[in-house]
Formats: sequence, C-alpha cells, structure tokens
Amino acid sequence: MEAKIQSVRASAIEECSKLENLEQLQQLRVKYLGKKGEVTQLLRGMGSIPADQRPLVGQMVNRLKSELEQLYDQKETELEQQVQQKRMQMEALDITLPGRKPKIGSLHPLTLVLDEIKQIFIAMGYQVVEGPEIETDYYNFEALNIPKDHPARDMQDTFYITEEFLLRSQTSPVQIHVMEGQEPPVRIIAPGKVYRADSDLTHSPMFHQVEGLLVDQGVTFADLKGTLQAFAKALFGSETKTRFRPSYFPFTEPSAEVDVSCIICRGTGCRVCSNTGWLEILGSGMVDPRVLAKVGYDIDKVSGFAFGMGIERITMLKYGINDIRLFFTNDQRFLNQFK
Ligand code: FA5
Ligand code: MG
Repeated sequence: MEAKIQSVRASAIEECSKLENLEQLQQLRVKYLGKKGEVTQLLRGMGSIPADQRPLVGQMVNRLKSELEQLYDQKETELEQQVQQKRMQMEALDITLPGRKPKIGSLHPLTLVLDEIKQIFIAMGYQVVEGPEIETDYYNFEALNIPKDHPARDMQDTFYITEEFLLRSQTSPVQIHVMEGQEPPVRIIAPGKVYRADSDLTHSPMFHQVEGLLVDQGVTFADLKGTLQAFAKALFGSETKTRFRPSYFPFTEPSAEVDVSCIICRGTGCRVCSNTGWLEILGSGMVDPRVLAKVGYDIDKVSGFAFGMGIERITMLKYGINDIRLFFTNDQRFLNQFK
C-alpha cells in the first residue's frame, strides 16, 4: 500500500511539473483529487487494509492529499501570474515613442541679414528709421537731383501709379524725409522694400535696400571709407578687403560703388566673382550739396555721405545663394536651412 501511495505521489508531482495552462491543472485536480480521483480511490481502498495499519496509511494518504492541494494551489498562482504577465506585455503602451513636435517657424534669411546690418550700424550710433513705399515723384527723383526727363531716371525702371505717385525705386527718398524733419547732425539707416520693373536670376521686382545717411560738420570721404570698411569687416569677416570704384549717382558727388574681396575665393578669382576677385555690395558717395541746399541745410557748415545696399544681394553673397527667387517662393527645404 505504501508503494502504491508513493507511485501515485510521484506521478502526480511529475505531471504537475509539465503543466502548461490552467485547464490542464483543472484536469489534473480531477484526476487525483476529484470524487473518482486516484487519491480518493486510495482512501476508499482503506477497507481492505488490516485494521492496525489503517491509522498509519490513512495519515499517509491524507498527508499526500494536502501536499497535492498545496502543490496545485501554488501551481495555479504561478500559471495565473504567467497569464497576467502575457496580457500586460500584449497590451503594453510604448511610452518611449517620442511625441509629434509642432513645427516651429524660423526667421527668413533676409530678416537675419537685415538684423545683422542693423546691429552693426546701431553700434556705430545710427538710428533706424522708415519711410513710405508709395512715394511722390518729388521725393523719389526731384529732391534727389533727378529732374523730369533727366536720363538718370532710366537707371531705374519705375512702377508709376499716376504721373505723380509711384512705388519707390530706392530707399534714398527717406534721406529727404529725415533731413526735412530735423537739423544736422543726422545719422540714420533706413531699411525697406523698393520696387523696379526688373526680373531675372539676380533681379526681383520687389527687393530690399538699406539706406545710410550721415550729415554733420566736417564730414569727408575718409569718413565714408572708414565707415563702410568697418561695416564690410563686421558683416563678412575681419579679413575682408574693400575697393572703392568711381561711379555716378545724381544725388552724390563724388560717387563710388563699393566692392568686397570675394567671400568664396578670398580674392584669387572664381565663378562667383567672375574671376575678378571682387563682389559689388553697394552704391555710395558724398551727398551732393544741391540735395542738402534743397532741404534747407547750410552747405557752408555741413557735409555728409550716403550709401545704399541691396539686402538680397548681400544675403546671396553671404550664404552662396544663386537665385534671388528662392527668397520669395517659401520653399521650406530652402527656409529650413536657416534655422
Ligand atoms: C541705388 O538704388 C542708390 N539709391 C544707392 C545709393 C544710395 C547710392 C545712396 C548713393 C547714395 P542701385 O540702383 O545701384 O543704387 O541699387 C543699389 C543696390 O540695389 C544694387 O547694388 C543691388 O544690390 C540692388 N538692386 C538693384 N536692383 C535690384 C533688383 N531688381 N533686385 C534685387 N536687387 C537689386
Ligand atoms: Mg548698381
């Protein structure tokens, strides 16, 4: 009888260790502990055992019964935990997945360069002013020493609104507004949009200029040179050289166009500078005394210089951009490069 108990115990434990799920466990419980289960059978068979051995055998069977109950309960908890764990794995949220960031805009390259230009002149004591984009013929031309029918008007293909009103073709009329409104000394820059009937890879019908004007006692061409040299070094780097080429503007005398040493090849000659080593960045000159006299300044006491630069031009040079239209087509692949 004892051997029988041992073999039931051995197979009950052995089968339990191979269980894979709760259903199988339930079957095993029935097989051993159920009404017709093997352990129950053992208890039933007690009748055939000699009376003196019964207590001992009964004890052994009962011990086996509670041992198996305990074992199966333990196994049940184990299997339940496995099920739970599997479910948690399947339903898990991957909280490490990064969220979708809102797209943040960035400053336009023209704005970046204009800000830089402003900072350079503000540091030199200049004030930033603005003027109207719709101008009269007087401010855009007459007051700047460009009379009607003067051939110099052909230098700028102007959009006329009426005979009298036009879209300003340059920021130079702001010079006149400022001088009409204040006595010298004057030290201003005037950034803004200007318009010309002009359109190709390097010309746009709307573009931006920054005007500069300084009027005071004893201002000379040396002041103009020093100022623009300092500006070019601040904007393009301290190695930058400048070259002043004689030129003509109706409202300055003498006049000069200013070139900087090519920022790509540093002056040795390349495609960007057409092998000259130089790049033109602005027009400038000593304010023509006739312009100063027209606004009522005393030309025996004061003199001044002025300059005007195209911001698109300078931005193209600074960043190696070869098509001016990229500034205005809002292609994000282009704009994202300036973040
Ligand atoms: C002028 O407009 C003068 N008012 C500059 C000046 C001011 C001279 C004060 C003396 C004293 P100009 O026409 O060269 O000059 O234009 C100046 C700059 O504007 C050019 O060097 C160029 O960089 C830019 N520019 C001219 N036309 C266009 C265009 N269609 N598209 C983009 N940039 C242009
Ligand atoms: Mg020019």
